[in-house]
Amino acid sequence: MKAKEIKLKNFKPREFIQKKVGEISSLVGRGFAINALSGGVDSSAVPILGHKALGKKLKTYFINNGLMREKEPETVASIFKRLGVGVEVIDARSEFFSALKGITDPEDKREAITQAFYKNVFGRLVKESRAKFLLQGTILTDIDETVAGIKRQHNVFEQLGIDPQKAFGYKIIEPLIGLRKDGVRKVAEALGLPKSLSERIPFPGPALSARVIGEATPEKIEIVRKATAVTEEELSRVDAFQYMAILHNDRVTGIREGKRDFGMQIEIRCWDSLDARTAKPTRLPYDLLEKLVRRITKEVKGVVSVTYNITEKPPSTIEAV
Ligand code: XMP
Repeated sequence: MKAKEIKLKNFKPREFIQKKVGEISSLVGRGFAINALSGGVDSSAVPILGHKALGKKLKTYFINNGLMREKEPETVASIFKRLGVGVEVIDARSEFFSALKGITDPEDKREAITQAFYKNVFGRLVKESRAKFLLQGTILTDIDETVAGIKRQHNVFEQLGIDPQKAFGYKIIEPLIGLRKDGVRKVAEALGLPKSLSERIPFPGPALSARVIGEATPEKIEIVRKATAVTEEELSRVDAFQYMAILHNDRVTGIREGKRDFGMQIEIRCWDSLDARTAKPTRLPYDLLEKLVRRITKEVKGVVSVTYNITEKPPSTIEAV
């Protein structure tokens, strides 16, 4: 089944919200639903929409999979608390790291994340909460690339012939399925999400494991997490669609305190894009790049080389994995 695209030309976010609230409410009926936040704009819009439709019949979780950005669980949970949506943080770090153990192939990694999310963690939460529905923020771009066989986005099932009810024991509701990122931002704004969320750069479901080339071990995730914090801090002043730090698998020879240091490499990407279908690297000021490199090599232990990627999408994709 192909999700129908909602064009932005005459898009009215408030009417869209009203329609979706009605649909969610009639689908769930007297039942219960759950949903999970990942810190990106799509997953942040869904609980507000769901909350409008279901009130207490929706339970929102933040799955701490160990792959999130610095201070993310606390920050996101406190923003939603202020918005009147309670968020329960679930510690699933060991489940995700054992699912990722020994996996180096990008698609196998994505599949491991998908199974850990949907089968193990949500499967358990659905049983405990007796929910029959999972609300999630899948958007059109996720589907396009999965169906085209470019990347298996962590949250796409039906279009691959997978019935979540049979595979995991619950139904999935996807209110944002007709939209792309620019449309979701309009909805997020109309839902009253603070700009820090509605304008937040996208962040993928597989989180920092999509930013480690090769096996995503806890140690490597920690390194990319630190590099991400510095990168986001420095590039937040730039008006870009998305930016990120990627940890490479190969090491290179560097020098530290006059001695040879066979160290790690970080790649920076910063994208200009409207809807993530195509993207161009941002023409960052050289001074800013130099500052970023100085900070990463100083603050992220073991990194001796930092590069800035200027390849367009296509042939690149936005994330490295
Ligand atoms: P790519 O790397 O495919 O990314 O050019 C396009 C956009 O999608 C985000 N992305 C994901 N989002 N689940 C998500 O929810 C995923 O598995 C996933 N993979 C990539 C990516 O950050 C970019 O904005």
